[in-house]
Amino acid sequence: MKVILVGGGGREHALAWRMAQSPTLTTLFTTHDNPGFPAAERLRNGDATALVAQAKQVEADLVVVGPEAPLADGLADALIAAGIPCFGPIAASALLETSKAFAKEIMDAASVPTAAFIRVDQTDPASVVAAKERCARGNVAVKVDGLAAGKGVFVCVTGEEALSALDEAWSGRFGDAARFLVLEDLMTGPEVSVFGLSDGERVVSLPSAQDHKRIFDGDQGPNTGGMGAYVPCPLLDRDEVEAVLDAVHRPVVAEMARRGTPFRGVLFAGLMMTPDGPRVLEFNVRFGDPECQPLMMLWDEDILPWLYGAASGELPDGRPSFADEHACCVVLASAGYPETSTKGVAIPEADTHEQVTVFHAGTTRDSAGQLRTNGGRVLGVTARGRSIRDARAQAYAAVDGWRFEGAQVRTDIAAQAID
Ligand code: GLY
Repeated sequence: MKVILVGGGGREHALAWRMAQSPTLTTLFTTHDNPGFPAAERLRNGDATALVAQAKQVEADLVVVGPEAPLADGLADALIAAGIPCFGPIAASALLETSKAFAKEIMDAASVPTAAFIRVDQTDPASVVAAKERCARGNVAVKVDGLAAGKGVFVCVTGEEALSALDEAWSGRFGDAARFLVLEDLMTGPEVSVFGLSDGERVVSLPSAQDHKRIFDGDQGPNTGGMGAYVPCPLLDRDEVEAVLDAVHRPVVAEMARRGTPFRGVLFAGLMMTPDGPRVLEFNVRFGDPECQPLMMLWDEDILPWLYGAASGELPDGRPSFADEHACCVVLASAGYPETSTKGVAIPEADTHEQVTVFHAGTTRDSAGQLRTNGGRVLGVTARGRSIRDARAQAYAAVDGWRFEGAQVRTDIAAQAID
């Protein structure tokens, strides 16, 4: 099978690494450079039209899309129109991630457990009054409807905080993305990531994961793309994940099919485990980064039939098989991340053993062959082990051999999962 992988970060390195172990893979093509990628042919960069043309030229059997942006821009639609299976949904389904108001509308229609909310429109005076009234009561999450680079959610306890979040959201800094807002009742509890692979009708489960979004230990400091993750999360075993799929992913996929916009790819539900049970915080239409890295470490069979099956509308029977082990990914980020990032810092490359894989995110190799930092999140040092304690210990032991000047590393990834 000839496969094109779209994207060049840590999540895509993990996907490439796992796909490269598939006996079904003949050639891997990539759209981005990543020094960690296995042997692959590099395609030209370009928009959806250019990618479709290249996919036809190389006679690709499957395109696997890592990030959400090309999906929101209609890459899957263009590929499907050209008869090329795409792992990743069409733009109308990618709205589950790119519009918080749309996601809430679908959850309402599909009776998915989520927080009560109102949707408000900046251009409607009555809606603005309703927004102010709701915010004044406090205990509300103010969410910008559209994509906001991870900065569009304000968690507000007091009315004052909420009213100033409303001002901030409508200050113009988010542009059209903030015309609509979702004002959601605050929920409390730990967060868990639950992934379902869908072919548009069926949904099959993967193990649960837990991410660590804040930059500093103890969940302090600003939000990041994710500073580490581990699999599985003890809050949801695989049977409990099945129950979540029954309550969340399967009704959503059925609703998308009913609307004539079937969801094919991976549906990632960010859940909060509230005292009343799991509630959906948000959807993503792609694998999590860095959750994908430990998931790929434990994926225990040929991945391509699953990705191809989802893309082509017929998943294999059963569900993907995962090693009965644990995996932990610890991210090394550049100095200044998440506000800025320092580039060009030399990265030492230590030897690792079979249980450890270092996934590259923001790295580059200079003309002398030296590996250097080239972005905010730089590396995801990922280890597997028989217990989460073991996986975590191995990941942290390997981090030391790759630590570059100014590296930011949380020391408490997966700490809460250890008895
Ligand atoms: N790690 C969270 C995300 O990928 O959105």
